[in-house]
Amino acid sequence: MSHPSYQVNTEHFWMPFTANRQFKAKPRLLVAAKGMHYTSDDGRQILDGTAGLWCVNAGHGHPKIVEAVARQAAEMDYAPGFQMSHPKVFEAASALVDIAPKGMNRVFFVNDGSEGVDTALKIALAYHRVRGDALRYRLVGRERAYHGVGFGGIAVGGIAGSRKHFGPSLAGVDHIRHPLDIARNAFTRGMPQQGAELADELEQRLLAMHDPATIAAVIVEPIQGSTGVIIPPQGYLQKLRATCDKYGILLIFDEVITGFGRLGSAFGAHYFGVVPDMIVCAKGLTNAAVPMGAVICKQEIYDTFMDKAPENAIEFQHGYTYSGHPLASAAAVATLQVYKDEQLFERAAGIAPYFEDAAHSLKGLPFVKDVRNLGLVCGVELDGIAGKPGARAYEVFLKCFEEKGVLTRTTGDILALSPPLIIEKSHVDQLFGALKEVLSSL
Ligand SMILES: Cc1ncc(COP(=O)(O)O)c(C=O)c1O
Repeated sequence: MSHPSYQVNTEHFWMPFTANRQFKAKPRLLVAAKGMHYTSDDGRQILDGTAGLWCVNAGHGHPKIVEAVARQAAEMDYAPGFQMSHPKVFEAASALVDIAPKGMNRVFFVNDGSEGVDTALKIALAYHRVRGDALRYRLVGRERAYHGVGFGGIAVGGIAGSRKHFGPSLAGVDHIRHPLDIARNAFTRGMPQQGAELADELEQRLLAMHDPATIAAVIVEPIQGSTGVIIPPQGYLQKLRATCDKYGILLIFDEVITGFGRLGSAFGAHYFGVVPDMIVCAKGLTNAAVPMGAVICKQEIYDTFMDKAPENAIEFQHGYTYSGHPLASAAAVATLQVYKDEQLFERAAGIAPYFEDAAHSLKGLPFVKDVRNLGLVCGVELDGIAGKPGARAYEVFLKCFEEKGVLTRTTGDILALSPPLIIEKSHVDQLFGALKEVLSSL
């Protein structure tokens, strides 16, 4: 039941990644947010178990971020980013480099994760061409990967539903398998011990088939988030890095979800001890207060573009009207400072074991087929209802929201949790307590 002051006409807005008809028959509206909570249109406090969409890492409405954005809006709303610029965007780039792996120190700003992925893929293709190695035109992704919704992203992505409408546009890419193996690794705490050999597929199957000299880049999410929290087996990412090194292939980490403390470190690259050639990030970069994404590159990539282009020429023909938008830059600078001042990455690492224990306490409840977790991310996979994929998890999501005041997220029959890093033990108890009660009631 909507609060009368929030009655809205839902007819005109075509909602993204939403069952529009189902939603509009019974809308769920959020109207305010602070810290760990949303307020729903009927005045309930909703515990945010998903940091919005894996993005509000510092909690909602952080006063320093709010203030920085408001100040910037009043001071200068917009400045052109082509052949002109403004101070805040340079400050944002330096602050981002400060927390990036060593040697990754050149930043291209975009507006979101999808643009970040497409930008990184373009940089990879152009980089090889600029070096005089134009044969490298192929891109490799993984099955069940989610890399946003740009044409590049869906091409290297591995979600059949996203790919099938756009098939003819997706030439020159191939995929290795994803490393989820419930039969061997169900209910693993942290990284699975088994499955590193799945990374050998890159060399043994794809490179053998295509000729390594044609591959420009391999892109992976360190943890595959959106398709159900798939955690890399121990040693798996190291193997991918070694194969890419052996054949001169660029390795891109899509850290749109794993960046900014989600695993208790600045990036997944730090957590897993594997440094890629490019990192795509977005979401937590600005705490989602203003849209922004970035591609962080090794200096060598940037230098190649600078060294090879004629003097005074634009070295890379790419950019968006809103690349490095002043409001986004101000939000990024403030957000990165908040992470540092409040030691939120360390905080996430500190509470992760408690979160892990709570997540695994769901083992044994009806329909729970697997629980997997790392840092402040957890996936709970359920046995689905025959002929109705996703329906079981959706029912849990609805009951959690409507009856328990807890926001979760579903993908297929998997529940995904990724709370803000400011989460307290009492919130963890509430989140998993709600899930326990709802699962037990099914
Ligand atoms: C790994 C990954 N890459 C890219 C994206 C796309 O980001 P955006 O929705 O900001 O375009 C997402 C979104 O969830 C993501 O999880």
